[in-house]
Amino acid sequence: MAGITARRQVLLFISVLSLGAAVGQVSYSIPEEMAKGSFVGNIAQDLGLDIQRLKSGRARVFTRDNTAYIELNSERGILLLKERIDREALCGQMTPCALHFQILLENPMEFYSVTVEITDINDNPPTFITNEAHFNISESVLSGTAFVLDRATDLDVGENSLKAYALKPSDIFSLKINNQGQGSKNVEMVLNAPLDREKNEHLRLVLTAVDGGEPRMTGTMQIHINVLDANDNAPVFTQPVYKAFIKENAPVGTVVGTVTATDADDGSNGRITYSISAMLDHAYGIFEINKRSGEVTLIGKVDYEKTRTFQINIRASDDGGLSGSCKLIADVIDTNDNRPDIHIMSKSNVISEDAKPNTVVTMINVEDADSSENGKVQCDINDSNSFILKSVSEKFYSLMTDSDLDRERASEYNITVTCSDEGVPPLSSSVTLNLQISDVNDNAPVFDRSSYEAYIVENNTPGLSIFTVKATDADWNQNARVSYILEDSSVNGVPVSSYVSVSADSGVIHAVRSFDYEQIKHFHFRVKAQDGGSPPLCSNVTVKIMIQDQNDNPPQVLYPVQTGGSLVAEMVPRSADVGYLVTKVVAVDVDSGQNAWLSYKLQKATDRALFEVGLQNGEIRTIRQVTDKDAVKQRLTVIVEDNGQPSRSATVIVNVAVADSFPEVLSEFTELTLDKEYNDNLTFYLVLALAVVSFLFITCLVVIISVKIYRWRQSRILYHSNLPVIPYYPPRYSDTLGTGTLPHVYNYEVCRTTDSRKSDCKFGRAGSQNVLIMDPSSTGTMQRIQSEKSILDEPDSPLEVRISQPFKININELMLVILFSAPRIAT
Ligand SMILES: *[C@@H]1O[C@H](CO)[C@@H](O)[C@H](O)[C@H]1NC(C)=O
Ligand SMILES: *[C@@H]1O[C@H](CO)[C@@H](O)[C@H](O)[C@H]1NC(C)=O
Ligand SMILES: *[C@@H]1O[C@H](CO)[C@@H](O)[C@H](O)[C@H]1NC(C)=O
Ligand SMILES: *[C@@H]1O[C@H](CO)[C@@H](O)[C@H](O)[C@H]1NC(C)=O
Repeated sequence: MAGITARRQVLLFISVLSLGAAVGQVSYSIPEEMAKGSFVGNIAQDLGLDIQRLKSGRARVFTRDNTAYIELNSERGILLLKERIDREALCGQMTPCALHFQILLENPMEFYSVTVEITDINDNPPTFITNEAHFNISESVLSGTAFVLDRATDLDVGENSLKAYALKPSDIFSLKINNQGQGSKNVEMVLNAPLDREKNEHLRLVLTAVDGGEPRMTGTMQIHINVLDANDNAPVFTQPVYKAFIKENAPVGTVVGTVTATDADDGSNGRITYSISAMLDHAYGIFEINKRSGEVTLIGKVDYEKTRTFQINIRASDDGGLSGSCKLIADVIDTNDNRPDIHIMSKSNVISEDAKPNTVVTMINVEDADSSENGKVQCDINDSNSFILKSVSEKFYSLMTDSDLDRERASEYNITVTCSDEGVPPLSSSVTLNLQISDVNDNAPVFDRSSYEAYIVENNTPGLSIFTVKATDADWNQNARVSYILEDSSVNGVPVSSYVSVSADSGVIHAVRSFDYEQIKHFHFRVKAQDGGSPPLCSNVTVKIMIQDQNDNPPQVLYPVQTGGSLVAEMVPRSADVGYLVTKVVAVDVDSGQNAWLSYKLQKATDRALFEVGLQNGEIRTIRQVTDKDAVKQRLTVIVEDNGQPSRSATVIVNVAVADSFPEVLSEFTELTLDKEYNDNLTFYLVLALAVVSFLFITCLVVIISVKIYRWRQSRILYHSNLPVIPYYPPRYSDTLGTGTLPHVYNYEVCRTTDSRKSDCKFGRAGSQNVLIMDPSSTGTMQRIQSEKSILDEPDSPLEVRISQPFKININELMLVILFSAPRIAT
């Protein structure tokens, strides 16, 4: 509308000029921004009015809105600038810009139109609304992308208005001006090259706007560009492969290693999460990775013997979904955690003691699961005396005997095999083998003593156990079961088995019979001890049995001989002095020692005052002078006692005739004994007795022979049964020990004559006494000279009877001889 009005004013001005004077019209042009009071135009002159008219007409400026930039100086008739005029304020972008007002006159009233055009000057620079602009641009934005920028404005018009833009620096962005028609322009900056936040995160550009005035004026704007991150970088590990070492059996929680990845991106695009990707089964559940720090720790058991190397694939991912990977190779370091494992392949529990050296007893296999030094094993045994452990090949050993074994020395071995590896510290294990040594019969029984001596008192009961032999055998069981055997031998020509027997089991020696010291004083035999081995071993020992004397025999009076009917008297002449040796009582005791120590005492006597008996020697002597008053016939009873406990004794009656001549004696004694009728009868009885005795003798012979045969047979059977055969031995009147009662040998002679009543006998031996034997019944004479010693020394020799001429046998005597020798012949 302003444009239309202006055009109308110009048209009006032209019409004024063309119509003339009726309505005056004038126009002026002034630049804006002129100082107040500046001259605008000489209106009086241009309208052709004189000053007077202006005065009289009270000329004034008329505006409709009473805003007058221009005032009228009536005095000078000129228009002056009332106040400073800014064209931009007055008209904005309108062109042309003019002030329209009227000069009004009175008397007569008339008016004149005045137009003042205000021209532009370049007084405004281009300006931006803000002097800074911020952009957040992703680095992923493609080149060619345009960003609209704020435009600058310039209030000036025409030449002085905005003319151009410039952007600096221009390497990344360039400027693009789009004409949008009707003079409006669109300013854009266009991306030329791709952005990279990682290189350049902040960009600073300056946009300059330039107008066309003279001089040019410019306005600038700072453009700040933040390059926003895009996830264009994947995490990258510092190494593609990491190496680590783990000790086996390392505790849970041990740090194996740390992997590190970096991501150039920012924020979540650069936030890395670590994880373990695919693992082989054996490694599963053994490792764990801290998802933030990348620290790999152990959460399971690592066993070198199962796995030597772990390959752990590790992935690093950012939040944007990009990832990188690496490998952690963890080598397991062996530690000595396995003991050697001893395995007994085969073994004998029992070995015979006669096994040869180098007999293999046990085979051993030893393994160690560890490797290298930790798996090198050495084995040894603790008993190296008898055994040796030999390495057959690697890991195989055999235990062998090294020397001869002896069950009796060691019946059992506990051998400990110890195997150690060479680790630091070494581990070892051991096994104890129990080996029994079996017995071989290699030891003979051994008797306690090298010989035995035992004592037994005579007159023992048969079957009495005498003592025990004992043998031990070092072997075992059956090989050590000792049985005792009496070795066959003979004692005095009789098998020893008839004396003693040996209990096979216990070794007790029993007397089989009752011993008689007077027959046998000692004997010896051998006992064999035999074990139950196969073959059996045996040894023997000598056993000596000593028989001890008992006082079982009374003294026997050898002299004077006590014959039933005969009367023997010692003659003592009446002239005999004191101490006259009448006779000597000779007695023996077959016992020995104290039991045979004899003493003689006078028990009874016709006249005790006349005789005495030597206590030790049995000599009867007179103790006083014989007188005529003394009776011819003296009867002494002498008791002979031995010294045994209890003592045994014998008595002997000694008749002593105290007379000077033989007839005196006879007369004295015959009244006592001689009887003619008795004597005749006696002869008859004797014949009868001879017949009976002869019969008995023959019967005896038959019986004895039968018994002999029977025994011979029996002994052959009994020999095997070991039953005792008890032979009968005649008494031996000897003292084999040499300490007897008869240190001297008494030889005496007996002289007998027919009709001995009248005969005189003389005894020529030293120490012998006159002896008168008066036997009223004797019908023959027998002279017998017998040496006691020969009988004593040779008990088995046939009875020696020496008969000298004249040979007249006293039947009575003969019978005695026969009866006496019969048993001996029987044996
Ligand atoms: C750019 O991003 C920042 C934060 O990222 C924000 O504070 C700012 O207002 C953003 N500027 C623009 C122009 O979007
Ligand atoms: C060997 O060791 C075992 C078991 O400890 C033991 O019984 C045996 O007596 C030892 N042998 C030697 C000779 O030390
Ligand atoms: C061997 O060991 C066994 C069982 O441990 C034991 O009874 C025996 O006495 C031992 N023998 C030796 C000789 O050490
Ligand atoms: C008895 O033993 C001895 C050795 O002590 C031996 O010489 C002898 O032959 C043995 N006798 C018998 C019959 O065995």
